[in-house]
Amino acid sequence: MSGPFPGGRRPVVQSKERKKSRENGGVVGVTERSDIREVAHWIRTSNYTAVLTGAGMSTESGIPDFRSAGGWWRQVDPRKVATVEALETDYPFFRDFYRARIEGLRACRPHRGHYLLAEWEAKGWVHAVATQNVDGFHLQAGSRTVYELHGSLHTFRCHDCGSPAEEPEFMEGRSCSRCGGRLRPNIVLFGELLPSDAWEGALAAIRWADLVLVIGTSLEVYPVSQLPSMAKGKLVFINLEPTAEDGMFDRVIRGKAGEVLAALDGELRAAEA
Ligand code: OAD
Repeated sequence: MSGPFPGGRRPVVQSKERKKSRENGGVVGVTERSDIREVAHWIRTSNYTAVLTGAGMSTESGIPDFRSAGGWWRQVDPRKVATVEALETDYPFFRDFYRARIEGLRACRPHRGHYLLAEWEAKGWVHAVATQNVDGFHLQAGSRTVYELHGSLHTFRCHDCGSPAEEPEFMEGRSCSRCGGRLRPNIVLFGELLPSDAWEGALAAIRWADLVLVIGTSLEVYPVSQLPSMAKGKLVFINLEPTAEDGMFDRVIRGKAGEVLAALDGELRAAEA
């Protein structure tokens, strides 16, 4: 590995730890029919399209993101729930926060945008999805090549001995059946390493892609924030609000993920007919 990951080391997750963006003078577009048509053309003609998603991909499913008004980090300090220190210093608070998130997740489902990405993969228009989301919705919607960079709220382990655990054990507040340790979801906390398979798969897909669609992320969390700058192909950003990284993209489509993906799907189908 080279570039922003010195010494080939697998990076740990850090907030606001931004490195320099690619400055390619990317043209920032507005959401116009011509942008949708052009991006649909890129999708149809690309040999390998990678998708990178963040919490904005799932807000239309009813799951809050982190940094928008109403996002998780506007309600709770991430240092109190999303770090190893938080888990180790106030485990009951940590456990209750994730129990509430898992309960909330049970009431939500993937939306049309998740299903469209899965359909596009089946049609050969998308080849890999890398996600910072821990909701499992890309897999649930049928996407097959999915790299869950920040882990998943659907699997569990003991923080102390690493043994696998089951969801009911965590939800019922039980201790590890092997060592009596603290159970946790298999999510990545700030200061922890990303899962190596997911990280290496996502990096390879993004480097290999001739088109990368980045959807619903503030690009504020390292190292995922660096992935778009590793792309050699065209870069498209579908996001509701402007971010500090908009300038590196060839096209920025301002809008809701599900709606923009549906509009792109309309163009793709029209071109197919
Ligand atoms: P953020 O909350 O930082 O950013 C979400 C982005 O999605 C914002 O720029 C919103 O404008 C946009 N957005 C919201 N709804 C949208 C919609 N319907 N369609 C399109 N865009 C929409 O979430 P992430 O960038 O995913 O990590 O956050 C990255 C990481 O920070 C998370 O994985 C989590 C968090 O701390 C850890 O906890 C390790």
